Amino acid sequence: MEIKSASFENFRNITRFDFEFDPRMNIIFGKNAQGKTNVIEGIYLFAGGKSFRHAKDADMKKFGEEYTKISVNFSTSERNYDMAINLRPLGRRELLRNGAKVKKLSDFVGTFRAVLFCPSHLSIVQAEPSTRRSFIDGAISQFKPRYLSSLIEYGKVLEQRNALLRSYEDKPEGFDLMYEVLSEKIAVLGGYITAVRNEYLFRVFSHVDALISDMSHGGESVGYEYVTSISGEGELSDEKTNAELYRKKISRMAEKEKIVGTSLVGAHRDDFLIKLSDKEAKIFASQGQQRSIALAMKLAEGEISREECGEYPVFLLDDVLSELDRDRKNYVLSQLFGRQVIITSCDENDFSDIDGGKKIFVDGGVYKYV
Ligand SMILES: Nc1ncnc2c1ncn2[C@@H]1O[C@H](COP(=O)(O)OP(=O)(O)O)[C@@H](O)[C@H]1O
Ligand SMILES: [Mg+2]
Repeated sequence: MEIKSASFENFRNITRFDFEFDPRMNIIFGKNAQGKTNVIEGIYLFAGGKSFRHAKDADMKKFGEEYTKISVNFSTSERNYDMAINLRPLGRRELLRNGAKVKKLSDFVGTFRAVLFCPSHLSIVQAEPSTRRSFIDGAISQFKPRYLSSLIEYGKVLEQRNALLRSYEDKPEGFDLMYEVLSEKIAVLGGYITAVRNEYLFRVFSHVDALISDMSHGGESVGYEYVTSISGEGELSDEKTNAELYRKKISRMAEKEKIVGTSLVGAHRDDFLIKLSDKEAKIFASQGQQRSIALAMKLAEGEISREECGEYPVFLLDDVLSELDRDRKNYVLSQLFGRQVIITSCDENDFSDIDGGKKIFVDGGVYKYV
């Protein structure tokens, strides 16, 4: 997959710019708060469907402007694509692929694929469970549309269910029927989500283990433990089996849920523990080792994307090189050699080891090829 160009109009601090990308290396540099991450955020919208900075559409619209438009042109080995996102002052955003409107986000996501690597990813080992979940959710969603639509639906059902549980004390009438309906949805959707995550984690960590073994010249190994709210109920398996485990667990926890007023069982509680040479990485791995694991997980994400879709995605590296020591930096660059990369940094010296490609300097939302 190769991104050829991207046009930004009224996105964040960018009034208008048309980027042309090199098939390999693209470097965006400039001082802080000038508009480097903004470019990565805009491009990643096409891959992840939402801002990786958790911004709402209104936050991404340039201050004082009425509309925002971003479009990208890219090619796969099979064909060329034009995709556009229009953020409008009122109502929903408009998604377009080759001129045709796309209604559902889960149909839009997956055509353009990218691996995003930013500084917050470096602390994956220490992060909150929700960060670890979104780390893998963003990756899986790009090659499994059903997964993304299930996640979106799961989020809605969970919100309804939590609202119902909160209101239990005030209005117990009619509670049981609604509780049963929503619990069944949590079990069915959760059974599927957990099955997919289970398989993905297995695949990711086989790559991560191999990469870490390579980085440490065979000295270290990496494993994981997938921790779910049905872990104690039985073996995780296909979606139907998992759904049955969720049903059992939910019925056992029903009384407790009513007391605490929130959903205690489901895929929203999933997490995974990362292990370095059989010990919990959060506690025993050094900061450098934890960063190596994060890096390996990102490289693994690229490998799986290629296994699924036949070619590498675009790699978007926002400000991570300066966070890595020399050995790790060179390792990432060597692993990404020959793939298409868009990389940002404040420090031009970060790129001293990179030959060729395009270099873009940014100052106050104005970009210049140098
Ligand atoms: N909606 C917006 N409209 C105009 N400017 C914005 C908007 N959102 C953020 N900015 C500006 O964008 C700049 C930050 O851009 P960013 O790409 O994150 O910087 P960096 O170069 O450090 O990565 C800041 O100057 C900020 O004020
Ligand atoms: Mg930045």
